[in-house]
Amino acid sequence: MSGEIILEGKGLWKRYGSLDVLKGVDISVRKGETKVIIGPSGSGKSTLLRILGLLEPPTKGEIYFRGENVYAGNLNLNRIRAKIGFVFQEPSLFRHLTALGNVKLGLKHVLKMKDEEAEKKAMEMLRLVHLEEWADHYPAQLSGGQQQRVGIARALAMDPDIILFDEPTASLDIELTWEVIEVMEELARKGITMLVVTHEIPFAKEVADEICFMEEGLIKECAPPEIMLRNPKTPRARSFLKRLLGAYGGI
Ligand SMILES: Nc1ncnc2c1ncn2[C@@H]1O[C@H](COP(=O)(O)OP(=O)(O)OP(=O)(O)O)[C@@H](O)[C@H]1O
Ligand SMILES: [Mg+2]
Repeated sequence: MSGEIILEGKGLWKRYGSLDVLKGVDISVRKGETKVIIGPSGSGKSTLLRILGLLEPPTKGEIYFRGENVYAGNLNLNRIRAKIGFVFQEPSLFRHLTALGNVKLGLKHVLKMKDEEAEKKAMEMLRLVHLEEWADHYPAQLSGGQQQRVGIARALAMDPDIILFDEPTASLDIELTWEVIEVMEELARKGITMLVVTHEIPFAKEVADEICFMEEGLIKECAPPEIMLRNPKTPRARSFLKRLLGAYGGI
C-alpha cells in the first residue's frame, strides 16, 4: 500500500499501575487503507485504539497524525481529534435525539454549521448507511444494528481522515452484524481510511489490506488476509486463527 500515512504509532507503551498493557507497538495506517486488528481478549487492542484516537496519552512512544508528532510542541489536540472518527462496541447515542438529531449534533456544535446545512449533510450520511427512512426515529425505536449505523453516520459526518472501529458488532447478533459489516465494506470500497478491531473474518478477508495479530501488548505479525488467514508466520497467530476460523467452520 502506498500513499500518505494518516496515523502512525511508534514504540507505543502503556502502563496502568504495574501492568504493561502496550509494550512498544509500531503501527501505521495509510490513506485509503483498511487495516484489521485481531487478537485475544486483554491483548491491548482497545487500549491501542484509545491511544491512537488521542483519548489518552501513551506512557512512552510517539503518535504522528499526517506527519505531525501530536504530543510534541503545542499542537491543538482537539483540532486533530476532530479528524479521527470513533465507533465503539456500543453506539452511545443520545436517547432524547432522533437518528438525524444525533448525526447533526457534532455538525452544529463542533463544526458550527447552520441548521439547514447540518440537516442536509446529516441526511446524506444517513443515506450512506441506508437509514434515510429512519431519520425521525429515536434510538429506542431502532435495532442494535441500526443504532450502530447511526453511530457510523455520526462519525462519517465530521469528514474524518480516519475512522477507528473497536469491535463494532461484538454486541450484535448475526443478522444485525451483517447489516453493519455490509455498510463497513461499502465504506472500505469507497476508500475511507479505517483501522478496525474485529473478529469478523469474512469482513477482513473481503476488504482488509492487512490483518495484524496482537498479543500481550505487541503486534506480533501483520500480513495481507490471504497470507494471514492461510499461512501466518508466528505459531501464536496460527493457533489463534485456527480457533477463530474453526468458529466459522473454516473459510
Ligand atoms: N484504564 C485502565 N486501567 C487499568 N487497566 C486497564 C485499563 N484499560 C485496560 N486495562 C487493562 O489492560 C489490558 C488490556 O485491555 P484492553 O481492553 O486494551 O484489551 P482488549 O484486547 O481490547 O481486550 P478485549 O478483546 O476483551 O476487548 C487488560 O488487562 C485490562 O484489564
Ligand atoms: Mg477491547
